[in-house]
Amino acid sequence: MSSERHLVLHNWCVPGDWDGPTVAGGRGAFLVLEDGREILDFSSLVECSNLGHQHPKLVAAIRDQAAKLCFVTSAWGAEPRRALAECLLAISGFEGGRVFFTLGGADANENAVRIARFASRKPRGLVVTRDRSYHGASYMDMALSGDSRTAQQVDAEAWGVRHVPPPYAYRCPFGSSAADECGRRAASAVAEAIDREGADRVAAVLMETNAGSNGIVAPDNYWPALRALTRERGVLLIADEVMGGFGRCGEWFAWQRHGDGARPDIMTLAKGLTGAAIPLGAVVMSAEVARAIDRDMFYGGLTYGGHPLSCAAGVAAIEAYREEKLIERSRTLGARMYSELQRLAARHAAIGDVRGGHGLFAVIELVSDRATKAPIAPWPQQPQALKSLLAAALAEGVSFGSRGNLLILAPPLVIDESDLARAIALLDRLLGRYFPSSVPEQKP
Ligand SMILES: Cc1ncc(COP(=O)(O)O)c(C=O)c1O
Repeated sequence: MSSERHLVLHNWCVPGDWDGPTVAGGRGAFLVLEDGREILDFSSLVECSNLGHQHPKLVAAIRDQAAKLCFVTSAWGAEPRRALAECLLAISGFEGGRVFFTLGGADANENAVRIARFASRKPRGLVVTRDRSYHGASYMDMALSGDSRTAQQVDAEAWGVRHVPPPYAYRCPFGSSAADECGRRAASAVAEAIDREGADRVAAVLMETNAGSNGIVAPDNYWPALRALTRERGVLLIADEVMGGFGRCGEWFAWQRHGDGARPDIMTLAKGLTGAAIPLGAVVMSAEVARAIDRDMFYGGLTYGGHPLSCAAGVAAIEAYREEKLIERSRTLGARMYSELQRLAARHAAIGDVRGGHGLFAVIELVSDRATKAPIAPWPQQPQALKSLLAAALAEGVSFGSRGNLLILAPPLVIDESDLARAIALLDRLLGRYFPSSVPEQKP
């Protein structure tokens, strides 16, 4: 029998070097490997298994739906699709809006742009996004993303995308040392980009709301400022909530922390939408956007969009978030995890910055010199010491997420408090081993 290593081209890897663990099952926040070892999943795989693994409610919903109706084209109706659209519009407060279902996050973002261009009658309207962002790995999404790893594969300008500097307060591209000033200046850069191109040529601004999948967490004033400036200019605002939604930032959707006035015109969802038990994405649009496209032919949609099995899982996922109070739980445990990580920062000189903390999502940025903020390796390279730390953690039964110099901490929202504490204690110990130059404990 040939091994998977030789048969499959895996995601985001050097094919010849692939040596990922093989997973045979799961339970709550744990994955079970084929040799029976249990691994505490501290990244929700790729920040998607918000409900943990093999959640019984999701498994039952998929099984029950499969027994009734596996598939019907999304040109026809299906009850789980109707029910999920109703749930999504209710929890987001997009009354009178509509939902377009996709297969995942990348096509949700592509279709959000398509719908924004369609609704604003700017068929090739420009889209403003930011550097150090990730919106998916299709060609359109590589253009939308401000991601140096894939930028050379696509001509973003030709796709009608204009990138602006990110609200990266720790290394502010505008030289600001205060987070709110960095957020304000980053938002002004969006306004300037729209004004430079002319608002009549710009269809949308597309951004992650708070937690960024490339490790940037926007200052609190950024999103409300984007909302205000896009509204003033008549440009649609699209929130990519693919990773930040479904409790990851302590709310159903991260923009909700800023109140109803910060509501985007369109938001995109995937990952936590079904707790990743089965593929599904969605574009949720406001009543105004839905009205604007209501009488015109929509040339869009893929064969499996809004698959009944996926929509049934989506309805069950929303019930599980509600019944187990997981959104509130993420907020409480996220705040606790964040303060624990700040205690680690007081002990480990290699921790340059800790950000996040609105829900169970935090980023640790590692540096070789805290005073100069010199990165351990240039982005997006991963330093060898971090690779060793991750391998040692896995050997001790915990899987941490990472990108480049960053540790991304995003456990399933169902994680036990004792497991959370155990993982942070392990991280503390391994930081001491692989990044040994410690700083003295600061006096309170
Ligand atoms: C913020 C964000 N948008 C979009 C995507 C793309 O989603 P998918 O991988 O389901 O296509 C991701 C995936 O990591 C993401 O984090």
